[in-house]
Amino acid sequence: MQQRIICGDTIAEMKKLPSGSIDLIFADPPYWMRTEGVLTRVEGTDFDGCNDDWDQFQSLEDYDKFTEDWLTECYRLLKPNGSIWVIGGMQCIYSIGAIMQKLGFWFINDVIWYKKNPTPNFMGTRLNNSHETLLWATKSKKAKYTFNYKTGKELNNDTVTEEAFAKGERKQLGSVWRIAVCQGTERLKTDDGNKLHSTQKPEEILYRVIAISSKMGDVVLDPFGGTMTTAAMAKKLGRQYIMIERDETYCEYGQKRLDAIEFEDTPIARAAYDEKPLKVSMEQMIAAGYFTEGEWFYLKAGDGVAQLCSDGKLNYNGEIIDMHSCAAIARGVKANRLNGFDYWYIKRDEKLVSISEIRDNYRQSLK
Ligand SMILES: C[S@@+](CC[C@H](N)C(=O)[O-])C[C@H]1O[C@@H](n2cnc3c(N)ncnc32)[C@H](O)[C@@H]1O
Repeated sequence: MQQRIICGDTIAEMKKLPSGSIDLIFADPPYWMRTEGVLTRVEGTDFDGCNDDWDQFQSLEDYDKFTEDWLTECYRLLKPNGSIWVIGGMQCIYSIGAIMQKLGFWFINDVIWYKKNPTPNFMGTRLNNSHETLLWATKSKKAKYTFNYKTGKELNNDTVTEEAFAKGERKQLGSVWRIAVCQGTERLKTDDGNKLHSTQKPEEILYRVIAISSKMGDVVLDPFGGTMTTAAMAKKLGRQYIMIERDETYCEYGQKRLDAIEFEDTPIARAAYDEKPLKVSMEQMIAAGYFTEGEWFYLKAGDGVAQLCSDGKLNYNGEIIDMHSCAAIARGVKANRLNGFDYWYIKRDEKLVSISEIRDNYRQSLK
């Protein structure tokens, strides 16, 4: 189990790692914000934005060269079916995206992180900058990357309200994520009570990213570790991690943060919602007594429509057909086939029961 913080320059350190050894990369590189002087709030206090030494570059060429160098290493390190997420603001995400495409990365999605609590534009001189962009990409178009689709649905609180979620409503996770800027107790402080890092990312972003695009035990690399948010969520979700960060203070505080994190064994961590259900056949279920040869199959209303044969096919007015084609014929639809498990019912204690429910019970019995 790799759980490493490497304190050093990211390009030099990445060069030491073996090619094709990483399942997932999350990179939150310097944005090159180009802020000058001190930003002042309307009421006169200073705003502590990102003006750190690590965010300074001489020119666009200088920034692009740095970007190409670290992304080249990421490309080399990523497994053929791995994927990479890069987050950035308007200052950098366009050149990062162009360089990624030049290096051969293939975009899967761009995600807007909509900040529920953005920093105001104090002077009112332009629009309030309330989002950042995440680019999600693979090494090639044909990569078979991990995407835990149903896990994403479980994490979707952007378009499903808490109330609807509690009632069982689930929707596809979209590409606009409504997440608050890191704040409160989540924000790391120095021993004298000051904010440790100017760009600490919210745990919720990393939790989503890691949960939907990796598996338990996968190796996650973050080339710009900062406060180690990526490692914190990787550890919580049972993934391995390699973090690179050149600032010793961030590494020290980050290690303390990680020491306090425990793996949480949850269906989200295991991507249990995405597990493929066990394949079972009608013949198997007949043999196990879950269905009986000759029993009637019903649609939701009306009399019995077809009778079950020993091989799992249906006898429909003397014609022997598979249950999916039979469902389409019996319902009079244009399609040649419907999923029979969505349409057929049988009688148990004089009540109609979906055959899908019976199949679930059989699957349960095999566990
Ligand atoms: C945008 S911050 C990452 C913040 C992090 N995602 C978090 O949640 O705390 C970028 C980090 O990269 C580090 N960094 C910048 N250039 C680096 C380099 N060449 N090698 C290693 N670390 C670097 C900075 O010290 C900074 O902590």
